[in-house]
Amino acid sequence: MQPILAIESSCDETAAAVMAPDGTVLAEAVLSQGDHARFGGVVPEIAARAHLAHLPGMVAAVMAEAGIGFDGLAAVAASSGPGLIGGLIVGSGFAKGVAMARGIPFLGINHLEAHALTARLTHKVGFPYLLLLLSGGHCQCVAVEGLGRYRRLGGTIDDAVGEAFDKTAKLLGLGWPGGPALEALAMGGDAARFTLPRPLLGRSGCDFSFSGLKTAVAQVVAGYPAGPLPGQDATDIAAGFQAAVAAVLADRARHAMAMLPEAGALVVAGGVAANGAIRAALQAVADKAGVAFVAPPLRLCGDNAVMVAWAALERLRAGVSDRLDQAPRPRWPLDGVEMRVG
Ligand code: KG4
Ligand code: ZN
Repeated sequence: MQPILAIESSCDETAAAVMAPDGTVLAEAVLSQGDHARFGGVVPEIAARAHLAHLPGMVAAVMAEAGIGFDGLAAVAASSGPGLIGGLIVGSGFAKGVAMARGIPFLGINHLEAHALTARLTHKVGFPYLLLLLSGGHCQCVAVEGLGRYRRLGGTIDDAVGEAFDKTAKLLGLGWPGGPALEALAMGGDAARFTLPRPLLGRSGCDFSFSGLKTAVAQVVAGYPAGPLPGQDATDIAAGFQAAVAAVLADRARHAMAMLPEAGALVVAGGVAANGAIRAALQAVADKAGVAFVAPPLRLCGDNAVMVAWAALERLRAGVSDRLDQAPRPRWPLDGVEMRVG
């Protein structure tokens, strides 16, 4: 089989990758659109236009780096949901165009499935395993039971965990995206100085809730005069918030493992999986349960096209591809993915 091309454009990362049939990455590129920072969040219309501007050049660059032309491709894949519809249309439309022009299979990949399967590329994890998907738009715990077989065990009842980081960072006067900035600020802080809630801790199941925690931080911040917070106080609040999130996630992971005792691994994915304190807390839970803890390398935790290529490859191996009239979907739960053979 020849290599495949994959595209990711569901949010604010424009990404393309070329992957060999054995999973070797022949070339990849990710562009994190900086244009949204001054708005304090992703602006869908700006994101879609930026994908449109960057994608053709980026695809040409990864194809050149991989040393192949479009006639050297076995298939082409794109994230086709869930996500921002403008970006999804750009990426999937591009991929369909290539598929149609070359007469090769098209795969419209579920973005969450791509995150879910990444650990099989990087760590050869076998089914079944547990996935904690922790990003800016998604926060859920999934039983990954086989290719195309995903069971949602729990999810957030309000904010996604990355969203909570972003909103809390904003309260602390940090820029967007807030997660990495908050983690840096929290370094060396006293996490016990401010008493912050740990929502749903100890509650059965593995749902998540973060809005109360963010509100508690807002109340602490409101106790200060207007203007920047004193440096040490900001550091301690950030450390307290991060510790609360890590404790809640560890507790939820513990419950999830009890819900799927046959799981061979606890896998994290999504941008928040970059957080060191959260990784350490989850690692400790997994160690205690005697389950492998798997965190893909940072560049594969956030949005990227390598994960889309890998999901496509797994599907192609199973004889699955999609029709060119498959519509991109802003909402597409993981347990709604189809396996269309032929
Ligand atoms: O998966 P991702 O790149 O994009 C989607 O949301 O789909 O995740 C981005 C999120 C943002 O909310 C960002 O603040 C958060 O991941 N994030 C972090 C860290 N790095 C990124 N949150 C906490 N600590 C980090 N080091
Ligand atoms: Zn994502």
